[in-house]
Amino acid sequence: MKAVLCKEYGPPESLVIEDLPSPKPGKGQVVISVKAAGVNYPDVLIIQNKYQFRPPLPFSPGGEVAGIVKELGEGVTNVKVGDHVIGSIGWGGYCEEVVADAGRCIPYPPEMDFVHASAFVMTYGTSHHALKDRAMLKAGETLLVLGAAGGVGLAAVELGKVMGARVIAAASSQEKVDVCLKAGADGGFVYPRGPLDRDAQKKLSDDIKAAVGPNGADVIYDPVGGDYAEPALRSIGWEGRYLVVGFVDGIPKIPLNLALLKNCQIVGVFWGAFTAREPARNKENLAELMRWVKEGKISPLVSKTYRMEEAAQALNDMANRQVKGKVVIAVG
Ligand SMILES: NC(=O)c1ccc[n+]([C@@H]2O[C@H](COP(=O)([O-])OP(=O)(O)OC[C@H]3O[C@@H](n4cnc5c(N)ncnc54)[C@H](OP(=O)(O)O)[C@@H]3O)[C@@H](O)[C@H]2O)c1
Repeated sequence: MKAVLCKEYGPPESLVIEDLPSPKPGKGQVVISVKAAGVNYPDVLIIQNKYQFRPPLPFSPGGEVAGIVKELGEGVTNVKVGDHVIGSIGWGGYCEEVVADAGRCIPYPPEMDFVHASAFVMTYGTSHHALKDRAMLKAGETLLVLGAAGGVGLAAVELGKVMGARVIAAASSQEKVDVCLKAGADGGFVYPRGPLDRDAQKKLSDDIKAAVGPNGADVIYDPVGGDYAEPALRSIGWEGRYLVVGFVDGIPKIPLNLALLKNCQIVGVFWGAFTAREPARNKENLAELMRWVKEGKISPLVSKTYRMEEAAQALNDMANRQVKGKVVIAVG
């Protein structure tokens, strides 16, 4: 079977494709015949040794796949051969066959094809956990989403609307803002590409206040960080919740007096750890998300699919802010 491999840490160009023997499932595991692998920003980081998880070399990137269960290991009862499943695997997905713990295989509704199923769980799982469990977003509140046309961002836009919030989308081009408006955002604005000097940060803060209104945002969803975080936090409303989701623009340092001035909370979000520590709650969340898929309330926007040979291009497009919504590697 063919696999895209990271044999040494480096940029996407250092990935190689090799033929490997078919893997065998251990106890409690299954082999999934992969049909599509979702591309997520953590894939960009993991191959450069910049992510929280450090799999031993060589490994295939790819935190989530959709495919068909090919073989069962000892003791597996929750899925059977032939089932269509999403494998939420952390890494290993850019290949034709992958071993997954049976507990991390998620059935999905027939409304989804392989491509959309592979582009779903990490982004929607993260944004749902962030908005529901961490921010406790309420209907009628104002939600500001940074990087709103990206994977987790666009999921936050859609989920914010399903939860009854007023959603304001912020992104680096009008084309991206338009994608968010089409996905249901109530408003949006364009911010500049960084680095942002003090004047640009002050202007960003003013632009956010103008977009969200005089009371500020009740919840800010931030997968960007870097130079964007402090101006965003300065625009938060009284008793707002600031969701720390990601750092594509770098890890910011925040003056803590800002939290005091607004009586607000700066709230961490680590969905992967949540799924491992609280599997029962995660299962409930996934059930709610799958119900919303069936009801046609949410659906990932897959803007492009790549072949396995184009995996480096997919990761570079993501790192260079070229991606709208999700991109996927079609396998086989
Ligand atoms: N906390 C968690 O549990 C969790 C789970 C999943 C992912 N994440 C994190 O969430 C972040 C986003 O992941 P994703 O898969 O949604 O990525 P993505 O699809 O690439 O979206 C990220 C967005 O950030 C914006 N951006 C701003 N500055 C950027 C820069 N310097 N480089 C690249 N993009 C920049 C881009 O939009 P504009 O061009 O419009 O600014 C882009 O659309 C990553 O840091 C990832 O690790 C966290």
